[in-house]
Amino acid sequence: MPQLTAIITGASEGLGKAFAVELAGRGCNLVLVALPNTGLTNLASYLQKTFDIKADTLELDLTAADSPEQIFAYLSKQKRTAHILINNAGLGNWDWFTDKETAFYKKQIELNITTPVLLTRLFLGQVDAAVTSYILNVGSLGGLFVVPKKQVYGASKSFMRYFTRCMQLELTGTNVKMSLLSPGGINTRPEIILMNQKLKGIAKATIFEADEVARIAIDGMFKGKKEIIPGAANKLLVFLNGILPGFVKDAIIKGKLKGHG
Ligand SMILES: NC(=O)c1ccc[n+]([C@@H]2O[C@H](COP(=O)([O-])OP(=O)(O)OC[C@H]3O[C@@H](n4cnc5c(N)ncnc54)[C@H](OP(=O)(O)O)[C@@H]3O)[C@@H](O)[C@H]2O)c1
Repeated sequence: MPQLTAIITGASEGLGKAFAVELAGRGCNLVLVALPNTGLTNLASYLQKTFDIKADTLELDLTAADSPEQIFAYLSKQKRTAHILINNAGLGNWDWFTDKETAFYKKQIELNITTPVLLTRLFLGQVDAAVTSYILNVGSLGGLFVVPKKQVYGASKSFMRYFTRCMQLELTGTNVKMSLLSPGGINTRPEIILMNQKLKGIAKATIFEADEVARIAIDGMFKGKKEIIPGAANKLLVFLNGILPGFVKDAIIKGKLKGHG
């Protein structure tokens, strides 16, 4: 098997950084993408030295119209093929809809929907049919549950769920495997960690560290799993979501929102 090359979006922080460490540890070469001045070059040199791999960095705003093309033009110029695409970069929030301006939603939709769709299209245009290739789309359990204050974010993750399911059917019989990662909470940004620390019971059991999620996700991706849900508590929530009537789920959500105004 040739040494695989993986593109990871949003690789400077959180889950994206954990994917970079996980894949470098498995001997993959990396193309790390994130916003400028986010410590990407330090991460790349650490990974190159530690794991004896090649790690390139592309400091781009993925919401800029031409950034997906720039990534593949960079590889094509070096006559390189990407074998793995991790659509990780995403923008979350927890706000009443009218508390954010239109510019925020525009950026959220561009980063969470437009960018992964365009990257997937460009990736599929360059795959080497002789080598198994992988696409891992980072969704969220938020794409399955209807949660106020996550209206556009949750809808963007629902989009990724639908897109992945359709593409999995379209890719049947090809040498490309596409997986959807549907995590619950992940301890990434400080504000998320603070919120997660207040959780109790099953809610607490749905939270994972980024390195654990990355390990489970990459295992699942290489096995060609269609959907990867880390942890028994998250799997249980998905099961309950499938059997509970809508009015019961709405009552639970409304109860949770009380006191979080
Ligand atoms: N954390 C959770 O609880 C959770 C749960 C379920 C799903 N997820 C999903 O997991 C993925 C990663 O989440 P995370 O919590 O690790 O996020 P994060 O810590 O906020 O990291 C996001 C990454 O994306 C980069 N990024 C943001 N905007 C960008 C842009 N316009 N262009 C290029 N790069 C950009 C960030 O760079 P900067 O460092 O410059 O901001 C950072 O590297 C997302 O898709 C998220 O929806 C997260």
